[in-house]
Amino acid sequence: MSEPARLWGENLTLAYDQRVISRDLGITIPDNSFTVIVGPNACGKSTLLRALARMLKPSAGAVHLDGELIGSYPSKEVARRLGLLPQSSVAPDGITVADLVARGRYPHQKFLKQWSRADERIITEAMDATRVTELATRMVDELSGGQRQRVWLAMVLAQQTPLLLLDEPTTYLDIAHQMDVLDLCAELHHERDHTLVAVLHDLNHACRYATHLIAMKDGAVVAEGDPAEIITAELVEQVFGLPCRVIPDPETHTPLIVPADRRGAVTRRANGDRKAEAGIGMRRSA
Ligand SMILES: Nc1ncnc2c1ncn2[C@@H]1O[C@H](COP(=O)(O)OP(=O)(O)OP(=O)(O)O)[C@@H](O)[C@H]1O
Ligand SMILES: [Mg+2]
Repeated sequence: MSEPARLWGENLTLAYDQRVISRDLGITIPDNSFTVIVGPNACGKSTLLRALARMLKPSAGAVHLDGELIGSYPSKEVARRLGLLPQSSVAPDGITVADLVARGRYPHQKFLKQWSRADERIITEAMDATRVTELATRMVDELSGGQRQRVWLAMVLAQQTPLLLLDEPTTYLDIAHQMDVLDLCAELHHERDHTLVAVLHDLNHACRYATHLIAMKDGAVVAEGDPAEIITAELVEQVFGLPCRVIPDPETHTPLIVPADRRGAVTRRANGDRKAEAGIGMRRSA
């Protein structure tokens, strides 16, 4: 029998108070994969990521990390194995970029022996990789949305965990920075054997970068596997209710989702509304 994956969950019921988001969910993150989770807003992607990172206790079922129940580890030990970039984070008041990134090293700090050269080097590398080095002395709360997102990413990279869970790491980023971050993830996965899980909304990025794609809807996994094998126009319509075509990406030959052109219908509707407002084509009462 093959070894179980480092991170997996079985029979998960995930809920906030009485509101159940996922029921009886099974999920396995293949080791050394770049797993991407896609799905409509509010379908439960962040909820699942929180459960996998032990930020949310399942109402039923269990998450396993490295052969043990995730709940059985001391929290610092979880933080040494697994890093989570939440969808939105609020920095402590008045903290600089360098200090926030340095917080990524806390799980590795030993009692008394506080700060090492290695810590410094890792922080510098994380800031270089996310291109925030020149922001080091700036206050986090004065940054633009995209700059801030990259600083949080630097913090989670500085944690140097073999497992990384990233909830929408490309949100707020311009297209060049989006590609930088995804390339960085791919590099961590290819060259350093990290296991990555990212929630992405851009299906085309998901298809380009994922080695394993998970499509969710209403708290359940609808399809998973190699993007080239699972992404079809039918699946996109089923999951997102969006008519589209799926063609090969001219650059990478991975699936490229092209939404159906609905502008004609929108323009006709808008023109119809304007005509109606102006009373054109309508009989005026005398
Ligand atoms: N802290 C909370 N308390 C109560 N309900 C919550 C909480 N967080 C999320 N929910 C609800 O759980 C459901 C799933 O939310 P979740 O954040 O997991 O969605 P998501 O798939 O990540 O969506 P998005 O793409 O918008 O980020 C939503 O209906 C949401 O309103
Ligand atoms: Mg979310």
